[in-house]
Amino acid sequence: MLTDKRIGVLMGGISAEREVSLRSGSAIYNALKSLGYNAVSIDVGSDICDVLDKGKIEAAFLALHGGYGEDGSIQGMLEVLGIPYTGSGVLASALAMDKETSKKVFLYHGIPVPPFVVFTREHRAKSIEFTLPWVIKPATEGSSVGVSIARDKGNFEKALETAFSYGSRVIVEKYIQGQEIHIGILNGKVLGGVEVRPSLEFYNYEAKYTAGLTEYILPPEIAPETYERSKMTALSAHIALGCRGATRVDLRLNAEGEPYVLEVNTIPGMTETSLLPKIAGLAGFDFPGLIEEMLKGIFDEGK
Ligand SMILES: Nc1ncnc2c1ncn2[C@@H]1O[C@H](COP(=O)(O)OP(=O)(O)O)[C@@H](O)[C@H]1O
Ligand SMILES: [Mg+2]
Repeated sequence: MLTDKRIGVLMGGISAEREVSLRSGSAIYNALKSLGYNAVSIDVGSDICDVLDKGKIEAAFLALHGGYGEDGSIQGMLEVLGIPYTGSGVLASALAMDKETSKKVFLYHGIPVPPFVVFTREHRAKSIEFTLPWVIKPATEGSSVGVSIARDKGNFEKALETAFSYGSRVIVEKYIQGQEIHIGILNGKVLGGVEVRPSLEFYNYEAKYTAGLTEYILPPEIAPETYERSKMTALSAHIALGCRGATRVDLRLNAEGEPYVLEVNTIPGMTETSLLPKIAGLAGFDFPGLIEEMLKGIFDEGK
């Protein structure tokens, strides 16, 4: 029985998203306990190898956002230890965490992404073919860390420097003027979506984590055919990367309502007020119900 298994909720970690991860992790831990599971919470630090070795957990529920918790590293360690875990495997996690590589996979599959160029410290495009405004972001961060919008060339250098302070590759992409929609996917099926309307310039770190700064509209206020198209595009993105379990796909719509994929989040925020739980609510799953489906996904999908 699944309820007899000792389940470790892995949370915390050392990425910029540690605090959010601790909140996701404790919400997941409480939900598992309320469902009668034998859950233990594990704050992931540099001693993680030891902790996992001695902890005798039989499955891992991953609540790590960003860094090595979401990029395939922890997933690889769990593979080696033979411990099954929630969500995407090593390759899908690594692909999704890297915005350059994931965009290239999406392009291969004909999934629309905003026009983009990749800058490294050594190599910068001499000219950019698409028009301003541009969004400048580090290739491997999350939570909008290091992301800025350049509305004219004057802001561009500063935006580049900011993004380079988080990593050696930076994406410069066309700003897609329109609504922002996030689609939730669970065990291979679309749950639904939410429209995100920040009162700030864009959905930046502050707008994400300060109560009241962003309006969330469930379901999104878009034409039914636009909603369908967004859902199908998001599911294609999830499948193209080979994701499993729960993901949240961030999309922007242009003025014509055509969706563009920004990214796939393989370990989306899981506090009770996070977007994926809100979307799951639309589909009839309360928070513990969603957690239980994510856990079952480990075994159903034969990982
Ligand atoms: N091409 C774009 N057009 C318009 N807004 C964008 C674009 N790229 C990013 N943004 C804004 O920046 C936010 C963060 O970008 P995203 O690519 O999702 O990275 P992160 O991993 O940091 O969440 C988005 O939620 C959106 O508000
Ligand atoms: Mg995002």
